[in-house]
Amino acid sequence: MEIHKYEKIWLAGALLLIVGFIATVSYGAVGAGIEMVDNEGGQVDPKALDQHPKFSEPGTYKTGPNQYDVYVVAQQFAYLPGTSDPIRVPANSEVTFHVTSRDVIHGYEIVGTNANTMAIPGQVSQMTVKFGEAKEYGLLCNEYCGAAHHAMEGKIVVVPEDEWNESMVVN
Ligand code: CUA
Repeated sequence: MEIHKYEKIWLAGALLLIVGFIATVSYGAVGAGIEMVDNEGGQVDPKALDQHPKFSEPGTYKTGPNQYDVYVVAQQFAYLPGTSDPIRVPANSEVTFHVTSRDVIHGYEIVGTNANTMAIPGQVSQMTVKFGEAKEYGLLCNEYCGAAHHAMEGKIVVVPEDEWNESMVVN
């Protein structure tokens, strides 16, 4: 069987495209530090968050010198804290976020950074972020979660170290 020259060129082009598509999807799935929410953060009962030692009083907790934990409850259509009052952390700190959801799956993206996770009922998503200078960051929900999904947002305020005081933490 003879394959025409132009057919060979088109076949090669199509094969190249297929390999390229597989490569971009693979990179998007596992490259650039992207990973699935794992079990590191542990599990919680989404119906009993009010009895949880931290999620009952979500907010910023000091865990060490320049180290903080931030507990966040996502729910339709707000972050507690984050939406009506911003999350506050000091500049030049290392912050571990513990994010869960009270109802459906939400997203939790710190806009302008690569910090982005899902908030899943029953599961705690954990991610550690190093904040530098004082700055404000937006928060966005990237998972469709209902009628007001598009309005689900919040704010993180990185407070200058000389304005930071311990009344901004829960414990
Ligand atoms: Cu919460 Cu979309």
